[in-house]
Amino acid sequence: MSTVLYPGSFDPFHLGHLDVVEQAAELFGNVVVAVMHNPDKPSGILPTEQRVAIAAAACAHVPGVSVKAFPGLAVDAATAVGALCIVKGLRTSGDFEVEQQMAHTNLAVAGVRTVYVPCDPKFGHVSSRFIRDIAHHGGDVSSMVPSVVADALATVFPPRSK
Ligand code: PNS
Repeated sequence: MSTVLYPGSFDPFHLGHLDVVEQAAELFGNVVVAVMHNPDKPSGILPTEQRVAIAAAACAHVPGVSVKAFPGLAVDAATAVGALCIVKGLRTSGDFEVEQQMAHTNLAVAGVRTVYVPCDPKFGHVSSRFIRDIAHHGGDVSSMVPSVVADALATVFPPRSK
């Protein structure tokens, strides 16, 4: 049994993320979900503490999973928790391009490896960016997020009346 770090901005945590957590927990035993800052996504819709709380609630049924916020670098968070490696989910070849560059950088600067988990194809279209956009306009995101996330988003962006 090993510990792995699953870093992301999780703004918000969605069903694709949950799928990666479930797969990583089955493969490695212990998963630390690290809520981190992505400099390419400066303005989050949910504050960090709320992202942690709802990711923790969404993962509560998965044994061996904990959720924490970390400042700074993913490699430092991985070292701090004694992670064997970083785990990332892949939906598309576009994800691969981005993740591969980060994986090579994290290996080069700190010797921290990355293992990829292919997402369940039924979540291949799910993205936090589109969820934010749809929720912002009062649309229905319930097919893409755990119910705890849908409830949190509904308090920030009241759903359109049907
Ligand atoms: O969910 P995201 O936004 O795709 O996650 C990206 C994230 C947060 C994992 C990435 O931006 C990151 O690792 N941020 C922490 C800072 C860091 O380690 N930067 C160097 C990356 S090579």
